[in-house]
Amino acid sequence: MKILVTGGAGFIGSHTTLALLEAGHDVVVVDSLANSDVESLRRVSDLSKKTLTFRELDLLDVESLAEVFTETIFDAVVHFAGLKAVGESVTSPLLYYRNNVVGTLNLLDAMIEAGVKTFVFSSSATVYGDSDALPLTEGTPLGATNAYGRTKEQLEGILTDLVASDPAMSVAILRYFNPVGAHESGRIGEDPRGTPNNLLPFVAQVAVGRHEKVSIYGDDYDTPDGTGVRDYIHVMDLAEGHLAALDFLMSQKGVFRWNLGTGNGSSVLEVIRAFERAVGRNLPYAVAARRPGDSAMSFADSSAAKRDLGWSATRDLDQMCADHWRWQNTNPEGYTTSK
Ligand code: UFG
Repeated sequence: MKILVTGGAGFIGSHTTLALLEAGHDVVVVDSLANSDVESLRRVSDLSKKTLTFRELDLLDVESLAEVFTETIFDAVVHFAGLKAVGESVTSPLLYYRNNVVGTLNLLDAMIEAGVKTFVFSSSATVYGDSDALPLTEGTPLGATNAYGRTKEQLEGILTDLVASDPAMSVAILRYFNPVGAHESGRIGEDPRGTPNNLLPFVAQVAVGRHEKVSIYGDDYDTPDGTGVRDYIHVMDLAEGHLAALDFLMSQKGVFRWNLGTGNGSSVLEVIRAFERAVGRNLPYAVAARRPGDSAMSFADSSAAKRDLGWSATRDLDQMCADHWRWQNTNPEGYTTSK
């Protein structure tokens, strides 16, 4: 198939682009490079020994977007492009609504104009908000608690309305839990700009000496060891989930929602211990205050994806940490200085 991948130079986008190329698809990537590096795509090409087409493009640029759809007749669109920092979304909500909601509307307009009916959307477990009905199923009521999460929740609603208006469409909404790890080659991985907000990239940067120690945001939660519990999922499992969803959409019309998680929760301390095993030494950490807005526990019921897509995550926390470490250790400064 010919597939348009938006945000394909980013963390999840680059790994999924690699999986798509390896499965024999033709891929056109559009990415604004606002939070990514085109070096990721050069490495994706190297790893897959396939070429791909890249266009630097912001989804707010409707004219350039229309050109992409006139140059190629796509079978499907996989949409990753978007902003994703929770804290920034609270201080700059309009930036988030413009980029994520308006950007996606522009993309959908261009797609509809070109007659493309198949769409895979990056959503997030953040749409469940603070729900304590664990594990989270696709039927758990939504209730995002910040602007970033609300952009995802609103877009899920928009896609549902769109499919209701056009029964010929096939739309997959994929709710990611906590994506971590890297391709097993160590050549592509997560390269956050500035200080990472997320746990794994921060721990990895401590391991290469870019930060002094890991701060554990609270050890007095109602969890087995008092630290926050999340459902970490290997980015290659996530990438494979997209391929499974695309396959499904080839024979089904409608809108479908799937959690992509492992179904297992790991605490902050368990993650640090697993990363220490990967690195082969202890890492410095200290308990700090809770981070505002964090919930104690979040993990998926991932049985719907298994039932419908025949997909389930196969890589465990030790593999996530080993692969994440291989990437960080061989690219201590991310893409910018590594060759
Ligand atoms: N944590 C620390 N120290 C850190 C960073 C995180 O102790 O330096 C803890 C957090 O308190 C939490 C856990 O590690 O308990 C995971 O935190 P992350 O920031 O890695 O992940 P979140 O679950 O908070 O956030 C992720 C995505 C968001 C998304 C959210 C809900 O990054 O985009 O899941 O789906 F909104």
